[in-house]
Amino acid sequence: MFKKMLWSVCVVANIFGVASDSNYALAAGEKDKERLIILNEIYNPFSLRFFEDCNIQKGARVLELGCGIGLMSQIFASAVGKEGFVLATDINEEQLQVARSLLPQEHALHLEFRQLSAFEMDSLDEQFDVVCARFLLVHLKEPQKLIQKIKKLLKPGGKLIIEDITHNLSLHSSPHTEGMVILHHLDQLQGEIQQSDDQYFASFPEMLEREGFKVHAIQKAQPTLDTPRKRKSILFHLSSLKDVLLDAGKMTEEEYSQMFEKVLELEQNSSVEIYYYELGQLCATPLNPSSAQ
Ligand SMILES: C[S@@+](CC[C@H](N)C(=O)[O-])C[C@H]1O[C@@H](n2cnc3c(N)ncnc32)[C@H](O)[C@@H]1O
Repeated sequence: MFKKMLWSVCVVANIFGVASDSNYALAAGEKDKERLIILNEIYNPFSLRFFEDCNIQKGARVLELGCGIGLMSQIFASAVGKEGFVLATDINEEQLQVARSLLPQEHALHLEFRQLSAFEMDSLDEQFDVVCARFLLVHLKEPQKLIQKIKKLLKPGGKLIIEDITHNLSLHSSPHTEGMVILHHLDQLQGEIQQSDDQYFASFPEMLEREGFKVHAIQKAQPTLDTPRKRKSILFHLSSLKDVLLDAGKMTEEEYSQMFEKVLELEQNSSVEIYYYELGQLCATPLNPSSAQ
């Protein structure tokens, strides 16, 4: 009986384009498009500089995990050029539909979007020069389970690039405000729903080295929300979580509205500076890739 119920849940999840091994709490598709566009505007300048430091070569083959609406995928496609290839994957088909709608013609032949959970990447039967994931592992229950899978998919000398939030409390304001207290509370609820660890990044380099990688570079960057458009990201984040928070019984509609008002106050008070989540960036290479085969 239980097995039958579990099966039905999986089938329904797949009909809606979401594989069953995701606890991802944020919205997807058109509903989350604007939030992700602004997120890319905030972080892409840092990511671009890091990718240049990581020296991604023209002609390289890149696997991107959790590509969302594919804006970073386009940057990778430009970096590897027409002689290279980017396979951009995401667990959620709705994200990929938006990604395909935003794909410029110039990348159509060397950037492919494919639905795939990061935990199923071992179903791919080719190797890549670069495997990358931005803002994915912080949403996963057991990100360390991906390390050996990634190792097997990297060519000798290939690079793993991870970018993520270093910890939720790195989102802060000056002065501290009630709206910020609410945002931290919401981050905590999101972590509970996803069963994820917002601080995994700190221990990840050591874990990678234990699993046979050499870590070449670790960097950190803290963006400020210094335009009215960027400040909107705190409201978008809140709206993106709404359905899941209500469905999980974490709050009532009324409580959500009260919290929204406080976060709106913070967003509109331009005398309060908002520092967005610190970005951690790392680049690593397997020391002995052939032993992973
Ligand atoms: C915060 S978005 C980041 C999107 C993109 N990497 C960026 O930086 O703009 C996280 C993405 O990870 C996807 N995701 C969640 N769990 C996943 C999994 N197990 N495998 C692959 N993608 C997953 C979500 O669908 C979502 O599109």
